Amino acid sequence: MAVRGVGLLTRLPLCVQRRSRVQLPILRLLSCPGTVAADPRREEQPSGSAETGSEDKTPKKRFSEGLYAVVEFCQKESVDSLQNGAHTPSMSTEAVIPFRSRYFNLKLKNPSNQTSQQSHIQCSNQLPPSSKKIFELLRCAESIDDQLNSLLKEFQLTEENTKLRYLTCSLVEDIAAAYFPDCTVRPFGSSVNTFGKLGCDLDMFLDLDEIGKLSAVKTAGNFLMEFQVKNIPSGRIATQKILSVIGECLDHFGPGCVGVQKILNARCPLVRFSHHASGFQCDLTTNNRIALKSSELLYIYGALDSRVRALVFTVRCWARAHSLTSSIPGAWITNFSLTMIVIFFLQRRSPPILPTLDSLKNLAGAEDKCIIEGNNCTFIRDLSRIKPSGNTETLELLLKEFFEYFGNFAFNKNSINIRQGKEQNKPDSSPLHIQNPFETSLNISKNVSQSQLQKFVDLARESAWILQQEGQDRPSPSSNQPWGLAALLLPSIANGMALARKKGKKPINETVKNLLESIKSNSAENSTNTHRKRTTSPQT
Ligand code: GTP
Ligand code: MG
Repeated sequence: MAVRGVGLLTRLPLCVQRRSRVQLPILRLLSCPGTVAADPRREEQPSGSAETGSEDKTPKKRFSEGLYAVVEFCQKESVDSLQNGAHTPSMSTEAVIPFRSRYFNLKLKNPSNQTSQQSHIQCSNQLPPSSKKIFELLRCAESIDDQLNSLLKEFQLTEENTKLRYLTCSLVEDIAAAYFPDCTVRPFGSSVNTFGKLGCDLDMFLDLDEIGKLSAVKTAGNFLMEFQVKNIPSGRIATQKILSVIGECLDHFGPGCVGVQKILNARCPLVRFSHHASGFQCDLTTNNRIALKSSELLYIYGALDSRVRALVFTVRCWARAHSLTSSIPGAWITNFSLTMIVIFFLQRRSPPILPTLDSLKNLAGAEDKCIIEGNNCTFIRDLSRIKPSGNTETLELLLKEFFEYFGNFAFNKNSINIRQGKEQNKPDSSPLHIQNPFETSLNISKNVSQSQLQKFVDLARESAWILQQEGQDRPSPSSNQPWGLAALLLPSIANGMALARKKGKKPINETVKNLLESIKSNSAENSTNTHRKRTTSPQT
């Protein structure tokens, strides 16, 4: 749930806060040296994302360009008190919308008084690491396991970044509260499911359901009193109307909210915008409670075994490095689907590393019961009641086997299904079928084209081969050569193979030989496939 008592102060000297009579239990400073262009996520934004509506009057400093702090307060009153002590800036030539946000700017009254306080402040970086840094880290690692864990450590969301996500939700909550005073806006998806990489988008859920539950049913004599409400033909239309109005408000009044797009005809209607101060690309939805449950499920899977997140991060980075994923919607595989694929793979190990969703359902107690729109979304949430896996395989082995497994998976006839943890016949002809864990008749990868799937398979095979080679011949630590995971993240993976072949290295086992043979034949097949490319459908 978005934390009510949170405010962001920008461009500090700290003394200004201490003068206001508010409690400051947690204070963390966040800073991001670097430029806007240094943030790879920005490069990924669709070039055509038109900015609509009024021009934003928020100071044009992004999170990467200043000194910022997320401050949490114990009491909501403290934030009120802070807001009462702030004033709306007056512009000499322009007008401003006098909205009382929880994002503040702090300016020194007398800039010459600046003390050396800032040098004692511990800052935490909010940008994803550069490729250079990653390759250096991977080169210096001691083992492939170490490489996977380092990658995870560098890319995972920091505690501060997560708090900033909650704060950004509370900004939207304050705007939506003008119409729905008891609404909540909370993050879901990779911002909270522990699989988020620094720079990932911020998925927000506008929860209006709690409003109905808040009011106790009061009776006056023989009468039952209820609100007069507007009738709308369907829940979907109601969602569209609500998001449309909130989208307008964000566009016109939301400090730092730019590029607001209302995407109301999607399967799951949403409002997309950039929040300038935090640098987050935000997707606001409502009425998709199942996505919240999916986030909770992924959180549980991530917490069950330390290898899960390391493997998911690696596969996500690998897929991004080879343009298998993109932040622009299209025929490519999504990070959510990749996570499902990794979970499925870990369910297939012997002994399994992760339990199936059905077994998590069977372990559930009455307090876990959850039915959403007729879909059974029940699973156990108390981690201590799930037996740890007896599997002791290394990350290196798992990564290699992952690529071999999916390099050989019968995608043409089988579906991936984490509910049962086993391959099942595909119910339709989509190239890739990954069963939606809660709405089981849906395919979460319906959008993936045959050519994108083939690219995934080819890269998986090549990566399996590279790791196989690595096992035999690791460069000395003093050499500058990328090895292990670094070799897999290099863009010219196919060239690397050609080079290795030239050097006369031979794959050592039959599986890998077969893989190579099939790459050859599939490449030919693939080029034919590109000609009869499927029309892509929107994401489910
Ligand atoms: P990144 O944003 O890419 O880091 O990952 P993410 O998991 O946040 O994915 P995304 O922003 O695309 O979606 C947010 C959440 O919506 C996911 O975590 C899922 O819970 C849900 N979701 C995403 N895609 C699908 C889909 O195709 N089908 C269904 N049913 N839910 C989805
Ligand atoms: Mg997301």
